[in-house]
Order: sequence, then C-alpha cells, then structure tokens
Amino acid sequence: MSKLTEAFDPEAFRREGHQVVDQLADLLGKMRVGQGPVMPWHAPAEELAHWQQRMEEPEQGVADFLQEFAVRSIKLHHPHYAGHQVCAPAPAAALAGLASELLNNGMAIYEMGPAATALERWIIRQTCDAMGFPQGDGFLTSGGTLATLTALLAARGRVLGGEALVHGTNHEWAVIASEESHYCTARALQIMGWGKEGLITVPTDERFKMRSDLLPAALDEAVRRGRKVTAVVASVCSTSTGSYDDLPAIADFCTRHGLWLHADGAHGAAVAFCPELKYKIAGIERADSAILDFHKLLLTPALATAVLFRDPTASWAAFHQQAQYLFAENEPDPWRDSGRRTMECTKLSMSVKIAALWRCYGPELFAEHLRAVHTLASTFADRLRKRPPFEVAVEPESNIVCFRLRPPHLTNEEVDDLNAAARRNIVESGSFYFVQTKLRGRVWLRTALMNPFTTMEILDALLDAVAAHAG
Ligand SMILES: Cc1ncc(COP(=O)(O)O)c(C=O)c1O
Repeated sequence: MSKLTEAFDPEAFRREGHQVVDQLADLLGKMRVGQGPVMPWHAPAEELAHWQQRMEEPEQGVADFLQEFAVRSIKLHHPHYAGHQVCAPAPAAALAGLASELLNNGMAIYEMGPAATALERWIIRQTCDAMGFPQGDGFLTSGGTLATLTALLAARGRVLGGEALVHGTNHEWAVIASEESHYCTARALQIMGWGKEGLITVPTDERFKMRSDLLPAALDEAVRRGRKVTAVVASVCSTSTGSYDDLPAIADFCTRHGLWLHADGAHGAAVAFCPELKYKIAGIERADSAILDFHKLLLTPALATAVLFRDPTASWAAFHQQAQYLFAENEPDPWRDSGRRTMECTKLSMSVKIAALWRCYGPELFAEHLRAVHTLASTFADRLRKRPPFEVAVEPESNIVCFRLRPPHLTNEEVDDLNAAARRNIVESGSFYFVQTKLRGRVWLRTALMNPFTTMEILDALLDAVAAHAG
C-alpha cells in the first residue's frame, strides 16, 4: 500500500480512532480521581533528547504515539492542577475539536466554513447579549493576546480615522492601563509602533485594582511624554491576582475625555454567563470593546477568544484589506467572510467547540463551572487565613488565589526563596501544579483553580506540602 493510501484509509482511522478515544477515556478516568502525576517533570533538554530519539525509531501507529504523548504531557484534568489559566476542556468540546480538525474548514471566507461561520455568528450574538452589547458585533480569534491587538487596532482606527490604516501612525499616541495589566497590551502597542513609551501605567490599590483616581495623572504623564491618549484598558480581571478594575469609574473617565474603553476580560468576563457572578463586570456594557477567552473559564480547548464591540461598525475598524481573489464584495451578509475582520486568514473553526458544549449542556454548564471554581477560591482563602504562617495576598474576586508561607523569623528575601523552592520541589515531584508571581516585588505562590473537581482536601494537602518546606 502506498503511504498516501495508508494515511487516508478510513478503516485505519476508525480502528486507531477507537483506540485513541479508549486510551483518553481511561486517562480521563484516572485523572478524575487524581491518579498519577500532574506533570511528569523532565528538564527541557532531557525531554528534547527523549523525543529526538523516539522520532528516529521505526514508524508506529498513531494510538501508540499519542499514548506516549499523553503520558508525558501536563494533565489539566487532574484535580491537583491549579496552575495557569487554561481550562480542562469538557470532553464534548474535544470531540468537536477532533471533527473540526479532520474537516479543517479554514474559515477565511464563508465558503471555507459555512457551518463554522454561522455558528460563530450565533455565539457572538449570545456573548454580546451576555455582555450587555445588544447592538454589538464581533468575531472569534486565536487567543486573548491577538484579540487585544485587534481591539486596540480598532480603537486606533476609530480614534485616528481610516487615515491610520492608509498612512500608518507616528509615535504621538498612547494607551493607559494598570501596572497589573496583562503584557499583551504592552506587546500590542509595541507591534503598533507606539513603543514602550506608548503605554502609560496607573498604579494599583491594595487590592491590585487600577487606582482610577490617578487616571487624570496618567493623562498629564501622556502630555509630559508628548503623547495623546487613545484608549484606557481595564483589567477584567487582572492575571496575577484576579482583581477586577472599577469599570464604572473608568467608563466615566473615558466618557469625560472621549477615550475608547477596552475591557480585557480574557479571564474574568466569563462571569457574564453566570447570573450570580455577573455583578463583577457591571459597567462592561459601557466599554467600546471587550474580549473573552472561552479557553480559560469556559471549558473550551485553546484557543477560542471572542472580540466584541458595542458599536457594530467598530468591528470593521481594525483592518481593511482588499483581496479580489478572496472576499466577496457587496454581499447582503457582510459578516460572511471571517478573514475581513480577523488577523487570521485561515482560522481554526473554534466556534464548533463552543457550540458543541452549548448544544449538549446549555449555558448552565458554564454557570455551574463558574460557581464551583469561585466558591472553591473563597473557601481556600478562608482556610489560608486560619492557617498561619500562611497568608493570602488579597481576598479573591475570581478563581485565582495568591498566598505564601511567611514564617515570622525570616527576612523578605528568605521568604521569597522558601516559597520559590517549595514550589519548584513540589511541581517537579509531580504531585501538584501551581505557579508563582511577584506582587510588589515579592514572590507569591499562585493558584488558578481551573478544575471544578479540585476539592478543599486536595488544597489542604497542597498546603501541607508547602508547609513541609518550612521545616
Ligand atoms: C487578563 C488577560 N489578558 C490577556 C491574556 C492573554 O490571553 P491568551 O493567553 O489567550 O493570549 C491573559 C492570559 O492569561 C490574561 O490573563
């Protein structure tokens, strides 16, 4: 049999596919009850050497190959995973991913993804409604970083006019965000050519929220730098501590000064889908643009991000490309060709993964998940407060809890070293996965409680493991 015939054999796909799903279901069952390491730690060079050797061995079936890949991967479905903000996807969404990857509908234009394009349109409608943008419009894109760049390009297009797209822009411009804003804002401004100086940061208060009373000072700073401000980015919520900026106050400021308000809701805007938690984003309906990652708190495999605009015409302001060979002109449904509004030309049909969850379980799945991880975060913070010498950085508003062990006799530097070493040893042992951050220059341990099956018993065991390092 030729390699091509072999590679496209439907019966081989059926056989191997069943085996892969069986293996993954077994793995899911084990992860669910916390069996096996969260991450089988190997240093990067060791991992590379392993795969270099394996890739040169004789060919093997895809099921065997994927089994080894899974064993050596970090396990987000393990209840001892409390690391970065990437979800343990609900399996139905992963199945949708399998189907969409095989069908490979590239989505740049309607014809290259009719179902995916229509589903995306439907998801954007639901998301705009949840966010309070009844007239709003938007699209899906590959991740919060790209989404932020796209939204800030639209802000630039709106504030500076279409001329910005024709002639480019100079260095006269700036954006304001808090010192705790995700680095994607700084990166977007660097890509836009406004440089590091193009970002004016506002200090945060004791809860790591933007000091909105200092926004006028940020405008003064812009003048000092010879820049005009186009937009303010609100963290909804911030990455390190999950703190929500005061949207109504920031919106008032933007209205007063004619500035674009961008809500970076990559992580926290997901609460729009939970009636009990939605109050946290009150005021987002006044934002000009907002982003929301489905792959963070909404159980969808990465990447899947919504970029939303309160004014539907603004959703066209980021890019303007003529491509005679690609985009249909003067169509009654201008939204049909996804690539007109997104950075991507070919784009993953991410909508089908979100839609699969919606279709199977309804939006209550999202609400239930959000309730579970938010409740766990508050309970964990309570526990930490009752267990000195642990301390909590700030009362959690999201599912993110920052804490550290602070034995009274140690200096700040010793406390930093103790916590960093404890984390490294625990993570490398494979028993838990959690991360660390720096707050006001000091090391804090950071848990993002992404897994709805993580329990307080598990978190107590994590604290025992950290405490064991204090000696
Ligand atoms: C507030 C915030 N914005 C943006 C991002 C970037 O999103 P992505 O990783 O999808 O590019 C993150 C990621 O953690 C985030 O927390």
